[in-house]
Amino acid sequence: MPDPRALLQERIAEMERRRAKVLAGGGPERVRAQHLQQRLTARERIDLLLDSGSFQEIGTLVEHQDVSLMRGVEAPGEGVVTGQGEIGGRRVFVFSQDFTVLGGSLGKMHARKIVKLMDLAARSGAPVIGLNDSAGARIQEGVDSLSGYGEVFYRNAIYSGAIPQISAILGPCAGGAVYSPALTDFVLMARGTSYMFITGPEVIRSVTREEVSFDALGGADVHSRRSGVAHLEAEGDAAVLGMIRELLSFLPQNARDRTPRKESEDPAERSCDQLLDLVSADPRRPYAMHQVLHNLLDDHHFFEIQPGWARNLLIGFGRLGGEAVGIVANNPAVLAGTLDIDASDKAARFVRTCDAFNIPLLTLVDVSGFLPGVAQEHGGIIRHGAKMLYAYAEATVPKITLILRKGYGGAYLAMNSADMGADLVYAWPTASVAVMGAEGAANIIYRREIASSPDPEATRERRIAEYRAEFDHPYLAAARGYIDDVIPPERSRSVLIRGFAMLAGKHEERPYRKHGNEPL
Ligand code: HXC
Repeated sequence: MPDPRALLQERIAEMERRRAKVLAGGGPERVRAQHLQQRLTARERIDLLLDSGSFQEIGTLVEHQDVSLMRGVEAPGEGVVTGQGEIGGRRVFVFSQDFTVLGGSLGKMHARKIVKLMDLAARSGAPVIGLNDSAGARIQEGVDSLSGYGEVFYRNAIYSGAIPQISAILGPCAGGAVYSPALTDFVLMARGTSYMFITGPEVIRSVTREEVSFDALGGADVHSRRSGVAHLEAEGDAAVLGMIRELLSFLPQNARDRTPRKESEDPAERSCDQLLDLVSADPRRPYAMHQVLHNLLDDHHFFEIQPGWARNLLIGFGRLGGEAVGIVANNPAVLAGTLDIDASDKAARFVRTCDAFNIPLLTLVDVSGFLPGVAQEHGGIIRHGAKMLYAYAEATVPKITLILRKGYGGAYLAMNSADMGADLVYAWPTASVAVMGAEGAANIIYRREIASSPDPEATRERRIAEYRAEFDHPYLAAARGYIDDVIPPERSRSVLIRGFAMLAGKHEERPYRKHGNEPL
């Protein structure tokens, strides 16, 4: 019978040996290579992301399944670090893939570590943050690694809307390593060091003969400006991790929770005098919607999401009177603020994200319509625009709309109009609500009269002026109750804060259904 004390010492020494091996990851050479590429290691990232000293690791000693092609292969920590910690004093669950271990590729046990973490997060009602740096399915494990991805995707879907899921892309992510992030609420990318693609440049070259670089195929620029896959991008790992911390400050812990208040020195009654000069009554004079938002929000702070994609529509977070709000705003400086396919997708997804997480919605309207054009029609603007209509109608969070200038046609309805479920609609005196602008309207309904008139131009001008007098103001809509009040622009901040305070206890039941069938 061995001495129990000696046995214990031996076991502890073994534990420390194993732990040290895991902490070393893929070894100093691969760590150096990672650093040379301006990328941090999996553990360095966790340290930067979480409140200092709060990380508690889970599953440190997990090892890969010994399938034949993996026999004798070392994979410390199974290529992923998992655990929980705090951000701003609030609990989060984190997995961080280790590219220095088999390229961060996902084998069955790597997946099981992530799955365990996701299950714990869902049971505890706390966000999951994935720091992705992975070459996708581990080729050596064949169907087992596909099964691992299946388990992760399944949980991404079933926990969607229950707890926030955030994905940072911090290296070359391929295959399953991009589909899991795509199922989460927010995707952030590091500029110049991260890529997302289903198949890489080499496969593309052999199949389609297209020559394309990593960056041009799936860099942060592509996904933040063209594909809309990424929500935020920043220079380097540290900046991305900092953005995650700020993003989380606008989100609740789970679907039953509310985003914590953040007190501000900014007075609720602050007069927004600059708004008077910013937005003129002339619908052709451009202005910066960002400026309007900076004027309205607490501490002039707007945390914009997807700033580079579908720039004709702005989405993001801010605070009013200390409470988080999600903002959707037309941006007349781009495509005259019209709604196109991408803007519709952008708004619809964001509205659903806010609704899932109890974040009230503020909608700022200055929209002349959906973007006309063959490409838009053939691209399915009907299907995409419908997503936006659906998302707003479906949302049960407090919803306030402020019409600044134009609210025309279907786009007026899509931008959270009274009839689509807005709780309160305000308008500035510069607002105009109509089926379309006066010029277009007169040209259609008085076409014959204008054409047969001895002085067509004079007739056109007269008819346009008449139409303007009838519709080009907010008072007809206000008289019908489509607008709850016309307010002086400089009072907007205090009116909105009072409006959201009034709606704070809002609760809305919907008829029983398994789930709606939103257009996709
Ligand atoms: C196992 C892998 C691997 C993989 C790379 N490695 N990919 N090991 N499975 N999928 C290993 C390499 O052999 C290498 O090991 C180390 O990781 C680093 O890889 P490098 O190629 O040296 O790195 P780099 O030059 O930076 O290129 C990174 C890369 C490239 C662009 C990601 O490795 C690559 O294209 N990998 C294959 C990507 C892929 O096709 N994945 C499968 C997707 S299918 P050593 O020992 O030499 O350091 C998929 C299925 C799910 O994911 C789909 C669900 C929809």
